[in-house]
Amino acid sequence: MESTPGLSGFRRLGGELHCGEVPLEELARRYGTPLYVYDLALVGENVRRFRTAFSGVPFTLAYSVKANGNLSVLNRLASLGTGADIVSAGELHRCLQAGIRPRDIYFAGVGKRPEEVERALEAGIGAFHVESAHELEVLAKVAEEKDLRAPLAIRVNPDIHSPTFHEYTRTGHAASKFGVPASEALELYRRANEHEHLAVRGVDVHIGSQIMDPDPYMEAWRTVRGLLRLLRDEGMKLEYVDLGGGFGVGYRGEPGLDLDFLAEALVPQVQAEGLELILEPGRSVVGEAGVLVVQVLHVKRSGGTVFVVADGGMTELLRPSHYGGFHAVEPVVKRDHRPVEPVDLVGPICESGDFLARDRELAVPEPGELLAVRTAGAYGFSMASNYNARRRPAEVVVDGTRVHLARPRESYSDLVRGETLPDW
Ligand code: LLP
Repeated sequence: MESTPGLSGFRRLGGELHCGEVPLEELARRYGTPLYVYDLALVGENVRRFRTAFSGVPFTLAYSVKANGNLSVLNRLASLGTGADIVSAGELHRCLQAGIRPRDIYFAGVGKRPEEVERALEAGIGAFHVESAHELEVLAKVAEEKDLRAPLAIRVNPDIHSPTFHEYTRTGHAASKFGVPASEALELYRRANEHEHLAVRGVDVHIGSQIMDPDPYMEAWRTVRGLLRLLRDEGMKLEYVDLGGGFGVGYRGEPGLDLDFLAEALVPQVQAEGLELILEPGRSVVGEAGVLVVQVLHVKRSGGTVFVVADGGMTELLRPSHYGGFHAVEPVVKRDHRPVEPVDLVGPICESGDFLARDRELAVPEPGELLAVRTAGAYGFSMASNYNARRRPAEVVVDGTRVHLARPRESYSDLVRGETLPDW
């Protein structure tokens, strides 16, 4: 799947919101709502932004699949030659289906099952990012049984308080479940280095998600560099440093984390250590490249609040209710003479916490009109659920003028697939 030249991103042409060169209204009519629409051209541009910024060192972009694992998105990334950061054998399966090279796949996560380790080892992935002493033992055991050598890095917890929008997305502080304290990592590296079925390849760290400030990355780098030097003093050969993902995007239209600024500080340092740099962006590759289109079902006024009830809510996009995440909302087609009022945009799910936006100044729409929930390409569909027996939405990819239904809306039979009744 190669890119075609054309307009990328979401813009308003003649009052109508477009993805690339395709009006969203047309897509909603064709495929129904709620509907996810992704712009593959913009995904490609985001990859190029990283590559340009970090061109001064050998660089691998290991896209974080958890942000959006749609096969058409992954396949575009594969055609651009990116790698992947995965956290399950399911994500491995998606990557292999989409054509991502196994050697560019890195397997993180605090709870890898032996069966998952086995699959990834057999697939020949780039490295396991090990998050505990016991996981290292499991990895060694599986590798020994298979008579293979498991490539690895230890995920170091640098004990950094990275400012993110919600405590759930901070992972680099000592009290988080992720990684191994730097002081203990040294011992694990020693054990790994002595084991004939393990191969030490690098050092890994990931400090959180939606980080707008480059400083915490530099702080993490300094912890990693300290450890690297200790490891090298002991004769270990290291190939790469992986500084994780987490690069923030502008949910309110503001610029995201300044990659060039970060690269300017980081690249010379990584270069001086003679290492390959791996980064694992998810959100900053796909976030802005996606919207969720919903249709307004009803508008009702109750207890002083204007409720705009749409056909999509927390089952399609969990971020507002789970993290208080902000997503800009706009009409797909701008109409005149709509009063602007503060409204709650809510879904049909039977939970008071089911909303997409709260107390938002919006031109009050009429039933039947379409709304676009912006910056929904990351952690949108990938966190969608079937709660209330709702069918997960369709996903469409666009590139310039081209459109592809990447995943149809689930059917009612999908909802009960595999379920059986007891025979007693
Ligand atoms: N690497 C590792 C080890 C991670 O755990 C994550 C995200 C990433 C990379 C990618 O981070 P990103 O570049 O996308 O920020 N569901 C939350 C975000 C959870 C992030 C989990 N880990 C949200 O909707 O904001």
